[in-house]
Amino acid sequence: MAANYLDFFDLNDDPFRMTPDIHYFYNSPEHSTALLSLEYCFKEKEGFCLLTGEPGTGKTTLMRLFVDKWKDRAEIALIMTPRLSPEEFFLAVLEDFKIPLISRSKNDQLKAFRDFLLTHAANDRRVAIIVDEAQQLPDTTLEELRLLSNLETEKEKLLQIILIGQPELRTKLGSQLLRQLNQRISVRVQLKPLNEVETSDYINTRLIRAGNSTLFANQKAKALIFKLSGGKPRRINLLSTRALMSAFLEGTKEVTATHVRKGAADVMESEMDEKEYSAAAARRRTKKNWLFAADPRGKASSRTPMAMILGILFLIAAGYAFYYFGYARPTTTLLEPVVTRASAPPLSPNPAAVTAGRISSATQSVQARQSSAKQELNAK
Ligand SMILES: Nc1ncnc2c1ncn2[C@@H]1O[C@H](COP(=O)(O)OP(=O)(O)O)[C@@H](O)[C@H]1O
Ligand SMILES: [Mg+2]
Repeated sequence: MAANYLDFFDLNDDPFRMTPDIHYFYNSPEHSTALLSLEYCFKEKEGFCLLTGEPGTGKTTLMRLFVDKWKDRAEIALIMTPRLSPEEFFLAVLEDFKIPLISRSKNDQLKAFRDFLLTHAANDRRVAIIVDEAQQLPDTTLEELRLLSNLETEKEKLLQIILIGQPELRTKLGSQLLRQLNQRISVRVQLKPLNEVETSDYINTRLIRAGNSTLFANQKAKALIFKLSGGKPRRINLLSTRALMSAFLEGTKEVTATHVRKGAADVMESEMDEKEYSAAAARRRTKKNWLFAADPRGKASSRTPMAMILGILFLIAAGYAFYYFGYARPTTTLLEPVVTRASAPPLSPNPAAVTAGRISSATQSVQARQSSAKQELNAK
């Protein structure tokens, strides 16, 4: 099917494939500015740089292009799965730089890492850690990164760090806990979606690279793709592929707005299916949890144990019934346990206190790591 599809349109490749392929890079003003900022960050040894953008705006593609540009002049560790503890993160970095594990001691490994940085600095080669999807980095690992960035001489920074992530990364870095790291970020770039003219150029660029620029000659078709995609390249690719498919099934070589609409209906249908599926799953969950009064915002933590409330109401009602009909001396016997429980000390420790304890002990252990790492670094 795919071969027929490409043959039919005289294409030598799939023009809208969903991979961050730099061969298809379209240098929009947004992407160009972002690339220049990253270049500046490297050239000037700025230390920390931040690139954020909505999903599908081209961050990973841009990163691949940047790495390709610098690969002969720099040592780059690329961390693509950042849900790592500080220790795992450091090991992943060492592995990417091919720094052998000489000992189990972190101190020794840090020394080896610093030697590596100094050797490359002496040869005027940059050393960088680039983290994609960095919004997933645990706070403690972000702190570890800050400590690694302390590795510098009096004159210059030895390590460049580029964090790439979705907009929530900016929010995360704005938190009180990470303020020291946030203050160190000297270059910040935000990637925005393409505008209508750029969307049209983007589609043309990809078609030219794939071997046939005539397929989307219809401006209305491209205008509709822009409208439906919001100018996000990943969505432009998806809608364009579907539109091409729709034209192919009709045996037409030029894509029109009708093909885009038909293709988009497929996309939206599958998205609706996904939404329906999640809504049905949510309904099932709600049914299962009928005992709990769900918070309208869906926060599990603020759920009220409805069964407990119903139970207490039932006990009170039963108490009154006994009292009213004079069967016994119910108020004391039946209500007593409730009253007693209210005045008795809680059976289990206060959960808030437990959480606070855990947080403070976790913070302490991070602080311990920080201060020991700092001492190690200062000692050199
Ligand atoms: N400037 C660009 N030039 C060419 N293709 C791009 C560009 N930006 C994004 N894309 C395409 O859009 C898709 C999504 O981009 P990606 O870099 O994965 O976005 P993000 O990392 O921001 O989620 C990529 O697979 C790529 O095909
Ligand atoms: Mg990405």
